[in-house]
Amino acid sequence: MTTAKIGSNPEDAKVRRAARLSIAPMMDWTDRHCRYFHRLMSRDALLYTEMVTAPAVIHGDRSRLLGFDAAEHPVALQLGGSEPAELAEAVRIAGDFGYDEINLNVGCPSDRVQSGCFGAVLMERPTLVAECVAAMIAASPVEVTVKCRIGVDDQVPEEVLPAFLETVSAAGVSRFQIHARKAWLQGLSPKENRDIPPLNYPLVVAMKRAFPHLHISVNGGITTLDQAEAFLAEGLDGVMIGRAAYHEPYEVLAGADARIFGGQPAPDRFEVVERMRPYIARHLETGGRLHQITRHMLGLFHGQPGARGWRRVLSERANRPGAGLEVIDAALQPMLALAS
Ligand SMILES: Cc1cc2nc3c(=O)[nH]c(=O)nc-3n(C[C@H](O)[C@H](O)[C@H](O)COP(=O)(O)O)c2cc1C
Repeated sequence: MTTAKIGSNPEDAKVRRAARLSIAPMMDWTDRHCRYFHRLMSRDALLYTEMVTAPAVIHGDRSRLLGFDAAEHPVALQLGGSEPAELAEAVRIAGDFGYDEINLNVGCPSDRVQSGCFGAVLMERPTLVAECVAAMIAASPVEVTVKCRIGVDDQVPEEVLPAFLETVSAAGVSRFQIHARKAWLQGLSPKENRDIPPLNYPLVVAMKRAFPHLHISVNGGITTLDQAEAFLAEGLDGVMIGRAAYHEPYEVLAGADARIFGGQPAPDRFEVVERMRPYIARHLETGGRLHQITRHMLGLFHGQPGARGWRRVLSERANRPGAGLEVIDAALQPMLALAS
C-alpha cells in the first residue's frame, strides 16, 4: 500500500480549502483562457483543466496542453488514462508546470475515452484505478485526487461506490469528486450521460458519513451558490459546479469568495471586462484570435439588460480575421447605453 502524501505538503491544505467550491473539468470549455476569466470573479475557487490524456502529455505539445498563467492558481490538472506507468510519466512531466493538484478522470463516458479503457469504464476496475493512483502519487509533488461517477450500467451504486472508495483510498487517495449519477456506457451520448441518469445526492452524502476521513465533493446538476451552501451544511467537504459556472459565470463565481470562503466581493461585470483587456491584448499580440477568449465570456452578462447585444456582437464579430479590442467596446455598447 502506498502512503498518502496528504499533510506532508502544506500547500495541499490550501487546495483542499479551495475545493469547497470548484469549477469542473470540461473539455473544450475550461481551457486556460476560460480559467483566467473565471479567476477574475473568484480568487478562492479551485479551477480544473480540461481532461488531458496521459499519452498526449507524453507525446504531444506540452506547452500547449499544459501551459497556464500564474494568475490561475489554484488550478488542478485532470488526466485521463489507465496505464500506471504512463500516468506516472505524465504526472512527472506535469510536475514542472506547477499544478496544485492532479486529478484522474474516472467519470467521462465518451466513446473515445472508453475505447482507450479510461474514464467512467474504470468504475468497473477499482483495482486498476488503485494501481494507477499509486503510481501517480509516487510521481507527484502535489495531491492526487479522483473524479468518479456513482457507478456505470447495471452496477448497484450502493454497493460499488463504497467498494470503489475503499479500494482507491487504500492506494493513497483521500479526496474525491463524485458526479452523483451513473454513466450508461452504451446507448447514451456523453451529453445525455450528463442529464438522463438520475441524480443520487443522498448516496454521496452517505459516502461522506461512511468515510468521514475522506474529502468528498459532490458534482452534478448544481446551479446556485444556495445549493452549494446547503451541501456544505450537510457535511460535504466541497461542491463542484460545471455547466452553470460556464453559462452563468458571474452568478456562480462572483458571490463565491464572500459566501463560501469568507473573502471579498468580486469586481462588477464591467470591471471584469476591463481586467480581461490586457490579457486579451497579450493574446492578440502573440498571434491569438479574439474569439478564442471571448467565446468563454458570452454568459458574463447573463440575465442583465443588454445581455443579448453583448452575446450577439461577440458571436458575430470576434471570429473575424483581425478582430481586436474594438469588438469588446462595441459589445459593451448596449449595456452602457442602458446603464447611462
Ligand atoms: C462540455 C463538457 C465537457 C466535459 N468534459 C469533462 C472532462 O474533460 N472531464 C470530466 O471529468 N468531466 C467532464 N465533463 C463533466 C463535468 O465535469 C461534470 O461532471 C458534469 O457536467 C456534471 O456537472 P454539472 O451538472 O455541474 O455540469 C464535461 C462536461 C461538459 C458539459
